[in-house]
Amino acid sequence: MTSSLSLPSSSCEINASSSESFKQSVLDIEATTTLDEVSSNGICLTWKDIWVNTISSNGKNGSKSILQGLTGYAKPGQLLAIMGPSGCGKSTLLDTLAGRLSSNTRQTGEILINGHKQELSYGTSAYVTQDDTLLTTLTVKEAVYYSAQLQLPDTMSKQEKKERADFTIKEMGLQDAINTRIGGWGVKGISGGQKRRVSICIEIITRPRLLFLDEPTSGLDSAASYYVMKRIATLDHKDGIERTIITSIHQPSTEVFQLFHNLCLLSSGRTVYFGPASAACEFFALNGFPCSPLQNPSDHLLKAINKDFDQDIEAQTGTMTTEEAICVLVSSYKSSERNQDVHNEVAVLSKKDTSSMDHKKKGHAGFLNQCLVLTERSSVNMFRDLGYYWLRLGIYIALAISLGTVYYDLGTSYGSIKDRGSLLSFVSGFLTFMSIGGFPSFVEDMKVFQRERQNGHYGVIAYVIGNTFSSIPFVLLVTIIPAVITYYLSGLQKGYEHFLYFASVLFSSLMLVESLMMIVASIVPNYLMGIITGAGIQGIMILIGGFFKLPHDLPKIFWRYPLHYVAFHTYVFEGLFKNEYEGLKFPTKNGPQGTNSYITGEVILRDIWQSNMSYSKWVDLAILLGMIVLYRVLFLMIIKITEKMKPIVGSLLSCTFVSPKTTIHVVENPNATPSY
Ligand SMILES: Nc1ncnc2c1ncn2[C@@H]1O[C@H](COP(=O)(O)OP(=O)(O)OP(=O)(O)O)[C@@H](O)[C@H]1O
Ligand SMILES: [Mg+2]
Repeated sequence: MTSSLSLPSSSCEINASSSESFKQSVLDIEATTTLDEVSSNGICLTWKDIWVNTISSNGKNGSKSILQGLTGYAKPGQLLAIMGPSGCGKSTLLDTLAGRLSSNTRQTGEILINGHKQELSYGTSAYVTQDDTLLTTLTVKEAVYYSAQLQLPDTMSKQEKKERADFTIKEMGLQDAINTRIGGWGVKGISGGQKRRVSICIEIITRPRLLFLDEPTSGLDSAASYYVMKRIATLDHKDGIERTIITSIHQPSTEVFQLFHNLCLLSSGRTVYFGPASAACEFFALNGFPCSPLQNPSDHLLKAINKDFDQDIEAQTGTMTTEEAICVLVSSYKSSERNQDVHNEVAVLSKKDTSSMDHKKKGHAGFLNQCLVLTERSSVNMFRDLGYYWLRLGIYIALAISLGTVYYDLGTSYGSIKDRGSLLSFVSGFLTFMSIGGFPSFVEDMKVFQRERQNGHYGVIAYVIGNTFSSIPFVLLVTIIPAVITYYLSGLQKGYEHFLYFASVLFSSLMLVESLMMIVASIVPNYLMGIITGAGIQGIMILIGGFFKLPHDLPKIFWRYPLHYVAFHTYVFEGLFKNEYEGLKFPTKNGPQGTNSYITGEVILRDIWQSNMSYSKWVDLAILLGMIVLYRVLFLMIIKITEKMKPIVGSLLSCTFVSPKTTIHVVENPNATPSY
């Protein structure tokens, strides 16, 4: 297979050439990849008249156009660079092409993959986002290694996957940092540039045929940028598969600039230039903005169109403002032959009837394997992250000692009836409530999940299973130690079975709070809002659980039916009370002198705490266990529904706000993720 990744000629050479040579250089580049040469296994991406607007809450008023009628293409074996000043719409264009625009935007225009509106199979495309979302507790080697285990198919042995991971790490020049933790949150780990390269490693490990990269070289020095870009550009030299690479980039050096085949130059969402990178300076020179031979071409191009600082730039015909210069360039490009060529090319590529890519679907690790790897990775993360469980364990132990000493040796006096109730309600209310403390760590975990999910590394079910199984040992630890301290110091009802029940209910409550917070995290965008929301929900549940206001005294409408029965604290209070009072006898306060008058635990439960005695404490525990499953299934459903609803909502919004003349194409999610 021939590779078309021959590097374009230096842009500085072209600077000095005439308009004839400009046309010639355009033709030269075109010749390197004519339509007929588009590899049958490659991906051809075309986009036509793409508009992206933000949707303001009040409808059309106040909405802003981020992209304005962009047209272009990306071919196999070529590297397309998107350049422009900060805020010009580079990331938005990448998001649009990858089908991951945020829901507050509407998009119109047509995006075709190999001439079809089709989804990309898993493993055919990858997206390296502008922000690095990585598990901070893992080392570079672990992060890439786990990623290889998750993404590469089961047909590859563990050893082969490991070798691929090692090779990719070396490719990105990370061998010296291989055993360093990624770090974050005040824990220093690898540098920003190294994080960038870890993110790239994770996405190129499957050798995808379509690669989106958002600022892959930020944080890298010019030499590192060159090597990283060169390795990305020459990925196909290793396996002969021609890749389509679309990257946004801020400040490429001359050498990096020479790696680009095509350049899409944007300014405020408009195309200033689309075409061979080597001909860009020529285009600028023709419009009165010549680049000096010694100047870095990207410096020149960006300086000419950056209006953020409202500098005057020098043109051949006197001086003009940057805004005027941009207008000249934009209109010149619009009326240029080059623009016509791009439209023609897009029309031809769109018509080319390339077969659906499903038959080339790349496999990923099997479901069981993914669950095992995710459980292992999550366990390592939970173990190393102090904020996940260890901090809570310390505070729980301190609280348990406080509780045990305040309520030390309760005995079976009349006064101990109330004390038992207070102690148990504190344990089931406040102690479980504090489980919220692990939320920030979980949110970080979720961010990684969302990135990996969007890139199709694995599915929601595998994540939920991995998270559940990895958290069980830690929740058990956080439960058992404080439970032993509290139970035996305070002298709650003796008996092995009673303690086990107490610990089981506490364990279930903690698992439930974790599950509740998972649901909150999937709905609420950040951890501060998540903590407030989670605390609010739990506060209400504790209030109506049946201790602070007895069940029969709760207002019937809404608070008792249905909320009292929906709140899991109801079953926690009830189960713990039944476990404690059943089988005990307490002397009555005002019994006749000298007579042994007793009140039984059953009577206390029925008359004082108003517990439902028609079922046993085991039913309460069973309900709690059932609720854990229910909450986790709910989390799974929310993620799935959100994913399914996003394109529909986008489509509806486009239909609502778009003018009738415009064709509507809602991008399908190109990252067809495994259903599990
Ligand atoms: N979902 C959104 N809602 C509102 N505004 C948005 C949204 N997405 C992007 N924008 C706006 O669109 C403009 C382009 O954003 P974008 O992130 O694409 O810029 P960029 O070229 O990638 O910038 P940078 O080089 O700094 O990463 C910005 O002004 C940004 O505020
Ligand atoms: Mg960006």
